[in-house]
Formats: sequence, structure tokens, C-alpha cells
Amino acid sequence: MSADTTSPRPVAVIGGGLIGRSWAALFAASGGHDVRVWDPDEAVRAGFGARVEPLRSQLEALRPDRGGTITVADTLAAAVAGASWIQENAPESVPVKVALYREIEKAALPDTTVATSTSALLWSDLAPGFADPSRLVVAHPFNPPHLVPLVELYGIDAARLDAADAFYRELGQVPVRMKREAVGHIANRLASALYREAVNLVAEGIADVEDVDAALVNGPGLRWSVVGAHMAYHLGGGEGGIAGYLRHLGPSQERRWATLGQPQLTPDICREIIAGVERESAGRSIAQLERERDRLLIATLQAHAAIRETPP
Ligand SMILES: NC(=O)c1ccc[n+]([C@@H]2O[C@H](COP(=O)([O-])OP(=O)(O)OC[C@H]3O[C@@H](n4cnc5c(N)ncnc54)[C@H](O)[C@@H]3O)[C@@H](O)[C@H]2O)c1
Repeated sequence: MSADTTSPRPVAVIGGGLIGRSWAALFAASGGHDVRVWDPDEAVRAGFGARVEPLRSQLEALRPDRGGTITVADTLAAAVAGASWIQENAPESVPVKVALYREIEKAALPDTTVATSTSALLWSDLAPGFADPSRLVVAHPFNPPHLVPLVELYGIDAARLDAADAFYRELGQVPVRMKREAVGHIANRLASALYREAVNLVAEGIADVEDVDAALVNGPGLRWSVVGAHMAYHLGGGEGGIAGYLRHLGPSQERRWATLGQPQLTPDICREIIAGVERESAGRSIAQLERERDRLLIATLQAHAAIRETPP
């Protein structure tokens, strides 16, 4: 059951798309695991090495590469056979994942934990894919997992959750636990609440896409990369802390909540958002934008690490 990180048993990555390849780079480089990847799409399997290596190189800026190998398996059974940990990154569909789990359960060791990267599906909808549902753990990363430390955990087996906590922490990730399951877990619920209002601001003509994004990145986003929503208001309360804040500005929060929008993604709104993002992109391709995002993420992580190493 436990992810024995000193054992030579490989870690399996099932589904080698955007999230699978990022996990594979992290498992091999930061965990030193030998990784076996499988994807049903032959083109994904053939191109995997070329796509994963640049991600692995990015990690060199953060910590030494521990030298795990990455092998692409021809079959699902070959990828999961003997694996110590299985990270599932198949498309976001209950029937697809449940059918996949039935196949995994036939070929994997009976005790191996299967961790799903699902963004918004419920554990209880996916667990029926297993004869032993306790082996399923939600371990939801934030894109791109090799550069964003958050992993949200949910499951029903305390020992497996402890093993998951240890497994991801050893990679340099920061696991958080959910006390009960919820669609979108924690972070995507927060992100969705924020995105709803980001769309509403555009839909109501309050601001353009690029100004909404600039307001977020240069204001709350910068602060949230250092303190969370609750802690930010503890500091917003001055000497009185959060209790003082809630007393003084709680009613103002409630008045603002009452004005937040419930936008619909109508064709007109979608056109306006797409045009705004095109202006904001200023001709840069998605690959260029990803590179710029990753450079800044790496620099931010380096700054955080340097500060942690230097006590005040
Ligand atoms: N994209 C994100 O920002 C993000 C972030 C966190 C979690 N996730 C979750 O990760 C999972 C994968 O998302 P993604 O963005 O990597 O998608 P993706 O489309 O990039 O990759 C999915 C891969 O799964 C493969 N696949 C198709 N059928 C499969 C099957 N039956 N078994 C195994 N693999 C199969 C596809 O060929 C593809 O390569 C989803 O559950 C998603 O919710 C995505």
C-alpha cells in the first residue's frame, strides 16, 4: 500500500497528455523514480520523450535531478505491472476512468494505490471502478504539476492518504487534505469563483479582459502567492487581526458578495473574451506564453526557497 520510495519498483503514469508528462518529469527528476508511462494514443507514446525532456530540464533550476528513468510502455498492463504507485491522468470522464480502473485492477499489484489527477470529478463517482475502492485516492495537481507544488488529496483509507502525503511531499510538493469530497476540490472551486467574476466584469462592461488580468496579477495574485485568503484578511485587520477585520469590514464583504454576477458563457461573451485574450497575447503563441509563465513560476519558486532557507 505504501509508496516505498526506496524500492526499485516503478511508478506508473497512465495518460501521457499535458498533466501526465508533467508528473512523469517530476517523478523521475525530483523523486528519482523509474517511471513507466502508457497512453492509448500511439502518437502520444511516440512523442513522449521529446515532450517530457524540456519539462525535466526546467526542474534542474529548482533541485538536483535524482536520475529516475522514463520508459514508455506498449500496453497498460506492462506499465502498471509491479508498480509501487499509479498516477492516472486520463480524460476527465467518469465512464473512461471507471473502464480504465477495471483494466488497471487486473494488471496491477492488488495493494497499489491508484491516484487520480481528476480536476472536478467526485471520488464517489470514480471509486465503483474498483473491486477495492479504498485503493483510489484523489491527488489533484495544479497545472503544470512539475512547477506548481499543490496536490489536493481525498480518499477513504487513512493509511493510503498518509502514504500519498509522504509520496508527494518527497517530490517537493505541498499536499493538502480534504475532509469531504467536493466538485472541483478546493483550489478549482476558488479558481471558479474568481473566474466567474472575471467573466462577469467583462460581461457587465466594467473592465476589459487585459485589465481584469492585470488587476489580478499585480494585486491579489501577488499577495495570494505569499498568504492565503484568510491570512490576507488577518493582516488586513491591523492590530485586531481577523476578528477585527470581520467586525469592521465583514458587512462590506457581504455587500460586495451580494453584487457579484452570475454570467452565462453566451456566444457574444465568449467572442469578447477570446478577442481580449488575443489582445493580451499580443501575437505570442501558446508555447511562448507557456515559456514565459514557466520562467516566472521558476523564479518565484526559487525566491520562496531562498527565503525559507534564510530564517528572519
Ligand atoms: N489541464 C489541466 O489544467 C489539468 C490540471 C489538473 C488536473 N487535470 C486532470 O488531469 C487529467 C488529464 O488531463 P490533461 O489536461 O492531461 O488532458 P490531455 O488531453 O492533455 O491528456 C489526456 C491523455 O489521456 C489519453 N487517454 C485517452 N483515453 C485514455 C484512456 N482510456 N486511458 C488512459 N489514457 C487515455 C489521451 O490520449 C491523452 O494523451 C484530467 O482528469 C484532468 O481533469 C488537468
